Amino acid sequence: MKALILSGGAGTRLRPITHTSAKQLVPVANKPVLFYGLEAIAETGIIEVGIVVGDTAKEIMEAVGDGSRFGIKVTYIPQESPLGLAHAVLIARDFLGDEDFVMYLGDNFIVGGITGPVDRFRAERPDAGILLTKVSDPGSFGVAELDIDGRVVGLEEKPEFPRSELALVGVYLFTPVVHEAVRAIEPSGRGELEITDALQWLIDRGRDVRSTVISGYWKDTGKVSDLLEVNRTVLETVEPLVEGVVDDTSVIIGRVRIEAGARVSGSRIVGPAIIGANTVIRDAYIGPFTALSEGCRIEDSEIEYSIVLRGSSVTGVRRVEASLIGRDVEVTPAPRNPAAHRLVLGDHSRVQISS
Ligand code: DAU
Repeated sequence: MKALILSGGAGTRLRPITHTSAKQLVPVANKPVLFYGLEAIAETGIIEVGIVVGDTAKEIMEAVGDGSRFGIKVTYIPQESPLGLAHAVLIARDFLGDEDFVMYLGDNFIVGGITGPVDRFRAERPDAGILLTKVSDPGSFGVAELDIDGRVVGLEEKPEFPRSELALVGVYLFTPVVHEAVRAIEPSGRGELEITDALQWLIDRGRDVRSTVISGYWKDTGKVSDLLEVNRTVLETVEPLVEGVVDDTSVIIGRVRIEAGARVSGSRIVGPAIIGANTVIRDAYIGPFTALSEGCRIEDSEIEYSIVLRGSSVTGVRRVEASLIGRDVEVTPAPRNPAAHRLVLGDHSRVQISS
């Protein structure tokens, strides 16, 4: 069995972070979302992994390399533009050959991995398998309709009037019969070759499409609150480890990982939290559910329940919470007089000021 990971497309929903970086590389507990997917695939024993890449190909290739550090062998498949999930299958035909495969959307996060559903598919070998999860906003997803025996009878992409609360999760299991389906379908109203249409094509021809309902699922919905929640869930599993230097006047409580080269002085860190490599914490409070990437500086400040990307600094500010701070950002206090907020914000930024 092979795997096909989709990491093309242009992220618009986590803007402005994704103006400058691939959405699949947004970090959760200091690790890109895509890496959790690669690890989940490696856990199933699959070695040959095709990664579909688009505009952000260079960044993805730099981050993942040949896949050896995940124990997989990666082949990159360039897609000229994001023409749909079924289009990605179409262009991966040579790579996939006549093997069964799991297709995994690189921006999806599935707590607990995918080994269970993959093993079941291998054992039962229906024509295709999908994963579903209950969501409160099914209109933002592909939506499945099941009969009373739980068989998939209909699928619709982002319907205006969803027929159920069961959304398609970005993991699909296919036998080679899907290749016939992706060749047969036409582009949808949004101009994409939809994998939901390919699945519906199979169902209409009496093919066996089975579903598994899972919990513990997240996908970027444009809500920073969702990203912070996934970050919180993953941080709860962090093993405490101090590889950096913590001075005697600092207090570290709970699950805290301090990576190599990080320096903590005169500060209090309450876990779960991660302090990235070479990050400096001075006279600061780092509260629970905070992930600071590498090369950050938090000085004379308080921050909690937040994600800070690499190279950013927060100095003399209290208190920052429930925030997503991008790369190489500086947060500092304004001068006391005049009492004014001074902002340099990228396009699509969102700021809440307490005054
Ligand atoms: O995440 C689950 C949802 O994913 C499903 O419920 C939907 O049925 C399915 O169509 C898909 O919906 P989205 O519209 O949210 O997919 P998105 O455009 O975000 O693309 C998902 C991933 O695939 C993302 O990592 C980008 C990549 N991609 C997307 C397209 C359209 C490609 O690599 N190539 C493409 O052509």
